[in-house]
Amino acid sequence: ALRRAENIHWQHVDVDKAARARIKAQQPRCVWFTGLSGSGKSTIANLVEKKLHALGHHTYILDGDNVRHGLNKDLGFTDEDRVENIRRVAEVARLMTDAGLIVLVSFISPFRAERRMAREMFGSDEFIEVFVDTPLQVAETRDVKGLYAKARAGRLPNFTGISSPYEAPEAPELRLDTLGDSPEALAQTVVERLLV
Ligand code: PPS
Repeated sequence: ALRRAENIHWQHVDVDKAARARIKAQQPRCVWFTGLSGSGKSTIANLVEKKLHALGHHTYILDGDNVRHGLNKDLGFTDEDRVENIRRVAEVARLMTDAGLIVLVSFISPFRAERRMAREMFGSDEFIEVFVDTPLQVAETRDVKGLYAKARAGRLPNFTGISSPYEAPEAPELRLDTLGDSPEALAQTVVERLLV
């Protein structure tokens, strides 16, 4: 795959990330939500975006369910496809922070190695890993989309937490205890961490 890039050279642009960000008066950030299916990633990311938007920030949400309808519709849920899913999303998020945005990335992103790879693409202050910590049993009991039931019945292979692993973050910037606080309060915590 690398050889295809052999004769491709990086094209310099004069308006850089810092310049784009200045005009928006905000620090570009990649807020990376990770957690089980049904943990509350999308709900919290949505509330965070609403709050940031109300404060005049320019944001964008990259969400698994949506990105898999378009850019990544060729990918399924094998380990290999998830790795490629996250690789592409991290690259897109990087383009978006380069454009000066605060990007909210909401994918299960179950593997530590890929989350580390994503982190390494950003500056150290730029990447905020947010672990949406909902125990499997709770996500499974809620089963908003009915996917856990399907997975238990053997009708959904490679389902995260059931037949595919989830590697919880060891040192996320933020860990959200979804049993302890409301989505609203958790979203506020994220916004405060972001705007320091
Ligand atoms: S990953 O692991 O980061 O590539 O997954 P992601 O792109 O976030 O997609 C997760 C959503 O896809 C639905 N879905 C599945 N999830 C996990 N395992 C399997 N096998 C699967 N099949 C479909 C599910 O609705 C996930 O949405 P969320 O919002 O996480 O519940």
